[in-house]
Amino acid sequence: MNTKVVKIDREHPDPAVFEEAARILRGGGLVAFPTETVYGLGANALDEEAARRIYAAKGRPSDNPLIAHIADEEGLAPLTAEIPDMARRLMKAFWPGPLTMIFKKSPAVPYSTTGGLDTVAVRMPSDEAARRLIRTAGIPIAAPSANTSGRPSPTTAEHVAQDMTGRIEMILDGGPVGIGVESTIVDVSGPQPVLLRPGAVTMEMLEATAGPVAVDPAITGPMRADVKPKAPGMKYRHYAPSAELILVEEAAHTESREAVSEAVIAAINRLADEQSRLGKRVGILCTDETRNRYEQGDGSRMVRSLGRRSSADSIARNLFAALREFDDLGADIIYSESFSKDHLGQAIMNRLTKAAGYHIVSPEEIGKDGQ
Ligand code: TXA
Ligand code: MG
Repeated sequence: MNTKVVKIDREHPDPAVFEEAARILRGGGLVAFPTETVYGLGANALDEEAARRIYAAKGRPSDNPLIAHIADEEGLAPLTAEIPDMARRLMKAFWPGPLTMIFKKSPAVPYSTTGGLDTVAVRMPSDEAARRLIRTAGIPIAAPSANTSGRPSPTTAEHVAQDMTGRIEMILDGGPVGIGVESTIVDVSGPQPVLLRPGAVTMEMLEATAGPVAVDPAITGPMRADVKPKAPGMKYRHYAPSAELILVEEAAHTESREAVSEAVIAAINRLADEQSRLGKRVGILCTDETRNRYEQGDGSRMVRSLGRRSSADSIARNLFAALREFDDLGADIIYSESFSKDHLGQAIMNRLTKAAGYHIVSPEEIGKDGQ
């Protein structure tokens, strides 16, 4: 299949481009498009066959449900059996925007979209190009992140092309996305809202609007005490580069927006040296404040800053692109600094720990093992 890539200009959108993309979607085809979070791989959310094509293009298990994207509030009622008051408050505060809510589904939504569940995930993106596409198509658009299953989500059209060329009809190139991590997911189908995935609509923001929000245990992952640093934990790996990723953090997680400890910097340099000596290509993920503290080695060492430590926005925006860049450069092993876990930091640390398959080490452990 020939994949057509078309640049879109948000200031002066070309209606013919959106018409063509909408025709593909209505005809059961696949179109990748930008949203404010990451690029999505779109298909008709009400068409069983289209959902199957998404799973095939991504290489994704078909029991993993998809998010239905709508352009305006009128799009919600036909997809849902009931809209609780708490959901209305959250919609008013955060839609359009990077918030996905899980509702009891209406019969209109096929089980192929919901992965067999009786609930449906719905989101109204704020990206104007995304909403224009949905509006032009006149149907809800099921869109997972437009990456091959398991790889980091795409934050540019080039990332999409890497994974999807030859597999989908069209890619709308709207340039780099603004947020860089996927939407916050909150289940509003039960009595209390439950956070299923942290994102740019933070826990603090949700609770200010909806009161106490429960947190799904899958977000924090296996308890630290259970983590055997040598075990790869492959079944938990998501958002992951091909290289092994190891998060280096203080046992007490003292990492903040201001600083990372000297012990962490020393530990990363030491681990990197050991791996370089074994002939491994090493990547280091750090910040503007610390990038000059890491030795570049003999050229086999790749040091990448995610931006200023004080700017969680820039760290979120650059994270997935940096993981993909390490893949492109052939890194064997990546060591990453750890970040503050509040506000947007919760989403950053969730993606990083998942990408690392929960492989986290502290400077103390490294000293003790002498590894
Ligand atoms: O920011 C985003 O949400 C992006 C852009 C393209 O909008 N989309 C995205 O989709 O991240 P995806 O498929 O990569 O992630 C959707 C997540 C999955 O973890 C899936 O398990 C969960 O949403 N999900 C979808 N429907 C669900 C449901 N009914 N109940 C529980 N989880 C659900
Ligand atoms: Mg995804």
